Amino acid sequence: MEKTKQRILKERAIEASKFSHSPYSKYSVGAAVETEDGEIFVGCNVESSSYGLSVCAERNAIAAAIVNGHKQFRAMAVYSRNGATPCGACRQVIWDICGDIPVYVYDEAGKEKTYRTSELLPNPFDCRKFEE
Ligand code: THU
Repeated sequence: MEKTKQRILKERAIEASKFSHSPYSKYSVGAAVETEDGEIFVGCNVESSSYGLSVCAERNAIAAAIVNGHKQFRAMAVYSRNGATPCGACRQVIWDICGDIPVYVYDEAGKEKTYRTSELLPNPFDCRKFEE
């Protein structure tokens, strides 16, 4: 991915993390997803007092893009203070909705790690299984 675009994606993920609603874990996460036509949608984690209802930043970013009519994705950036990689549930949803995209993970020191969805979720389950 083009460096400038990647930097913007990173900055949008960092900005989004500032809106994190995480009074229970106090762990802010921000995510930004780029659509095929170059638009960026962001999400932060939103926690509930009924903990299991909390939604991660990555899934909120994907939902924001979907509700705006997007179906094709190029890349995702995820930011947290210590560079958390997406949780298992998010890996499944990134695979289902975005496919095998690069996922850039950043921490507060500015360290970057690049993964692909296929690397984060090897041997995935998806709709091909029940459509075959
Ligand atoms: N969290 C995310 O937003 N994304 C991840 O991939 C890992 C976890 C959030 C969920 C919860 O609000 C907090 O981080 C601690 O688990």
